[in-house]
Amino acid sequence: MNELTLLAPAKLNLTLDILRRREDGYHDLKMVMTSVELCDRVTVRLREDGAIRVRVPGTDLPEGEDNLAGKAARAFFNRIQQTPGAEISIEKHIPSQAGMAGGSSDAAAVLRALRTLLRPDLTDGQMEALGEQIGSDVPYCIRGDTALAEGRGERLTDWPALPPCVIVVCKPEFGLSTPELFGRVRVGDLRHRPNHDAMYAALQSGDVGAVAKEMANVFEEVLSPKETEVIQDIKERLRRCGAENALMTGSGPTVFGLFQSPGSAQRAFEELRDLHSQTFLTRPL
Ligand code: C5P
Repeated sequence: MNELTLLAPAKLNLTLDILRRREDGYHDLKMVMTSVELCDRVTVRLREDGAIRVRVPGTDLPEGEDNLAGKAARAFFNRIQQTPGAEISIEKHIPSQAGMAGGSSDAAAVLRALRTLLRPDLTDGQMEALGEQIGSDVPYCIRGDTALAEGRGERLTDWPALPPCVIVVCKPEFGLSTPELFGRVRVGDLRHRPNHDAMYAALQSGDVGAVAKEMANVFEEVLSPKETEVIQDIKERLRRCGAENALMTGSGPTVFGLFQSPGSAQRAFEELRDLHSQTFLTRPL
């Protein structure tokens, strides 16, 4: 076998708290992430000339090692001290710069595919450590499912799965820069912080309504008035259509709503799709 195609799922944050700014410029976080069916398709084919090529048809995303997927291949080859080379092709469905870890998930899929194709002796822990070199969300994307992430995002604990529900995901047109958003945060001023004990209990109970009640993301507090207006409008539309709750994921600007009723989710999807073209209907993975 010298070629493999894997799905690279999007992630959503059920919670995101920022605990402190660190000496190394990163922030210590505490957040619950979960994977959804919305995904990219990543094909990795081994080459024989040592080159790493990345193609993302239909997008203007970087194509060489400037793409996280190419960086992942390079890090993997360095780790196993072999460089056969790789041809990586990404069929993109997850919006970029959206708070859904699309690029990190593609990179994680490349690492998983190369492990299967080349069969080096690498444990899951070693794979996650390799992922950490590529980006803070990559270790989670290697693991998937529902997990608590701490530290930069690399310290992971498996948590109970998000109960079955329907999820409407809506990315407004503007972009938010993650480093810039972190730069706006004054940790002492944050008010609406998630309660992780309550979130754990809610997930364990299997009650979507209880989980929805505990969703919180401190990044929502540092948005400009203009950004807040758009995010709040999407959240209100989702709730009016019957969402149990709605939240911005990661450093945004994507907003998602959790629904018990597929019919209500469908109505919200149709209403929001007319306003924001990057709107999706999905489910927990
Ligand atoms: O790790 P990654 O390259 O994805 O992070 C992008 C940027 O986000 C970092 O350069 C940093 O500014 C910010 N960041 C942070 N604290 C984290 C994760 C990311 O400040 N835990």
